Amino acid sequence: PCALLLAAVLAIGWYIRDSLKVDDFNQKHVLITGCDSGFGNLLAKQLDRRGFAVIAACLTEKGASDLASAASPRLKTLLLNVTDSESIKRAVEFVSAEVGERGLWGLVNNAGRSIPVGPTEWIQVEDVTKVLDVNLIGVIDVTLRFLPLLRKARGRVVNVASILGRFSLGGGGYCLSKWGVEAFSDSLRRDMYYFGIKVGIIEPGLFKTALTRVDLIEDDQKRLWDHLPQDVKDSYGANYFHNYIKAQNFSMGILCSSDLSKVTNCMQHALTARYPRTRYAAGWDAKLLWIPLSYLPSFIQDFFHRLIFPAPKMKRCVE
Ligand SMILES: *[C@@H]1O[C@H](CO)[C@@H](O)[C@H](O)[C@H]1NC(C)=O
Ligand SMILES: *[C@@H]1O[C@H](CO)[C@@H](O)[C@H](O)[C@H]1NC(C)=O
Repeated sequence: PCALLLAAVLAIGWYIRDSLKVDDFNQKHVLITGCDSGFGNLLAKQLDRRGFAVIAACLTEKGASDLASAASPRLKTLLLNVTDSESIKRAVEFVSAEVGERGLWGLVNNAGRSIPVGPTEWIQVEDVTKVLDVNLIGVIDVTLRFLPLLRKARGRVVNVASILGRFSLGGGGYCLSKWGVEAFSDSLRRDMYYFGIKVGIIEPGLFKTALTRVDLIEDDQKRLWDHLPQDVKDSYGANYFHNYIKAQNFSMGILCSSDLSKVTNCMQHALTARYPRTRYAAGWDAKLLWIPLSYLPSFIQDFFHRLIFPAPKMKRCVE
């Protein structure tokens, strides 16, 4: 009974500590990348309603103007391409003028892409680079350039990683980029600790956004498959492509959640809690499946992978 009581007291204590908030939201500026759609778009509107001074970076003019018309006049938009250093420099100038001596309270590195993804062998190195440039190098470039403004505010960096930064599933640059974001964020948190800059890592499970659109993923995988040499196609077998897509559709259909607020609420906690957490698992699939799986031995993880995806026709050359 004593142990139970102690556990209850600790749990209540943790809960209270976790729910303490910082104040003066309306004095705080938050820059969010990738606000054209998905998590970034929803977070921008959500923080705008809470009174934050939101600066929403979009890739496209249309993304920016649609968001501006759906938000309060306080929300500012800017165009940002995270793979273009000049574009990042212009964004720093804009944000610097907006925030003044107060500095930047929050930087949410949300912009990302997923395609090309698919069986490792099907993907060329250029395909990998395209994704790494946005999801990893882009995050690093943006973060490093905004650190001086974040330091002024003793602010926060919130990086969107993924459960695929804990458990690799398929080839392409996506998993690599997200493992990279985890590593970058861990180093950044440890090094920025002394300056009062906090770093949060969001690990969403599967959500319905532009990144998980199976029709777009499938179209691109068709391109990858069509480019394979005939002997490689033969080793997978004529039915493999179809079976692979079917398995992908099926698992995405079960696991993809359309409630994006599960992710944006984690981001909001990372920006508003007095004691933000280091990692946030967003979505039931992240909490109950992917994160636990990431702690299990490799042979169990590999078995799980074989359950989801079909086997090629020519399984082994030498038995
Ligand atoms: C982003 O910048 C890169 C590098 O400058 C460029 O190749 C790419 O076309 C740009 N993307 C968009 C959507 O403007
Ligand atoms: C997979 O889903 C997409 C989009 O819903 C659909 O167009 C496609 O026919 C499906 N493919 C298979 C093999 O089930």
